[in-house]
Amino acid sequence: MTQDDFRTALRRFPTGVTIVTTLLDGKPKGFTANAFSSVSVDPPMVLICVNRQARSHPIIAAAGRFCVNVLALEQADLARRFATKGAHDPFSDIAYHIENSGSPVIDGSLAYLDCNLAEEHSVGTHTIFIGEVVATGASDGAPLGYFNTDYRDFGCRIP
Ligand SMILES: Cc1cc2nc3c(=O)[nH]c(=O)nc-3n(C[C@H](O)[C@H](O)[C@H](O)COP(=O)(O)O)c2cc1C
Repeated sequence: MTQDDFRTALRRFPTGVTIVTTLLDGKPKGFTANAFSSVSVDPPMVLICVNRQARSHPIIAAAGRFCVNVLALEQADLARRFATKGAHDPFSDIAYHIENSGSPVIDGSLAYLDCNLAEEHSVGTHTIFIGEVVATGASDGAPLGYFNTDYRDFGCRIP
């Protein structure tokens, strides 16, 4: 099996899209992520997989917290911006607020899960960060999807 074979198989798996945010020394940081999963209900735990090359990686580890913002269909532009390493700080012109636990919540997201970092496991190129969820929010609307290397409208919504 080649790396291409691996990627080709994974492209057949449709996912939602999130922006994982954190805050360190009063400065917000975020990046686009779809390697997100629920882990446990009691206690409420989720996981994200973060490339050790990502600038967010040491920031999440140092901050000890992160927030998973589940993107709405209208937020594809945000997903693109937070997946691009540029000089421009995407937080400079978007609406967000800081949750009680200290992480940025992006306004207009379909849901958010605000977490305290509970465990870290290094696997290959990535670290699995496991978070204990301390606050959540949810609104109605349509999710942003990702499938076969592009953003999608999965044609579903709440309610
Ligand atoms: C749809 C999509 C999903 C992604 N999912 C992840 C992910 O789960 N983990 C990860 O480390 N990078 C993921 N990336 C790549 C990061 O968004 C990208 O490398 C980003 O520039 C990292 O930003 P940073 O270096 O400022 O932290 C994804 C990119 C896209 C477009």
